[in-house]
Amino acid sequence: MTPLLQTSGLRCGYGADEVIHGVDLVVSPGEIVTILGPNGCGKTTLVKAILGYVRTTKGSISFRGQDLTRLRPIERVARGIGYVPQLLNTFRPLTVTENLEIGGYRLRRQERSAAIQRMFALFPLLADRRGQRAATLSGGERQLLAMARALMVSPEMIILDEPSAGLSPLRADEVFQHVRAIAEAGFAVVIVEQDVHRALEVSARAYVLVTGLVAMHGPAAAVAADERIRAAYLGARETFSPGRVVH
Ligand SMILES: Nc1ncnc2c1ncn2[C@@H]1O[C@H](COP(=O)(O)OP(=O)(O)OP(=O)(O)O)[C@@H](O)[C@H]1O
Ligand SMILES: [Mg+2]
Repeated sequence: MTPLLQTSGLRCGYGADEVIHGVDLVVSPGEIVTILGPNGCGKTTLVKAILGYVRTTKGSISFRGQDLTRLRPIERVARGIGYVPQLLNTFRPLTVTENLEIGGYRLRRQERSAAIQRMFALFPLLADRRGQRAATLSGGERQLLAMARALMVSPEMIILDEPSAGLSPLRADEVFQHVRAIAEAGFAVVIVEQDVHRALEVSARAYVLVTGLVAMHGPAAAVAADERIRAAYLGARETFSPGRVVH
């Protein structure tokens, strides 16, 4: 099966500072994949390179078998990659419905209304609050709105950068239940998370990134069972040899 997303030997960074030192990543259609790793290891940078906000200096990115490496972010989104950034992911003065309308701005009016109805079915909580301004939603509700907004144009894959950041355990559970529902609706999901436990629970596979390299990857259950995951979060790089695969 052709992977949906594939990065090969991807290298990128900021100016002379290389942050990602050659990452191979594969996401299959409809799959949930988690990217874990300590603060500052390059998770957001990797995601931004996939989206085209950070320039890839070496290696390549393909989506549905087509090379994306030199495309602008807007062209990558048009190919079917949705993105929910770590911060500032809703328009706060606008209502839930208005946020969704903006998410679907390139759809025709009828398609847009249909997409909004689909999002209300997928996120009933948002349907109840459709007229409420994003600024007055709870953190968890706002995260759901950000996801729904990115899903308005029916991307084949959605990338979520820290969807549970700052949420209470109950709200985080809610967000991850919706991540499951999103995958069941046919979207592939890439999650960048600090909440290792919850993210691995919903994922098929996981990648552990340590200082810009994949230190471990494999089925989420195998990664979750590995004691060195804790060490990775303390930044103990020497406990890994790059490229290790767990089964
Ligand atoms: N715009 C930038 N200019 C220069 N350096 C940057 C920039 N953005 C990030 N960095 C650096 O790149 C490295 C990786 O940062 P990145 O945000 O990708 O990490 P992260 O794994 O997402 O961390 P966190 O878990 O804290 O979100 C860090 O050392 C950071 O300081
Ligand atoms: Mg980050």
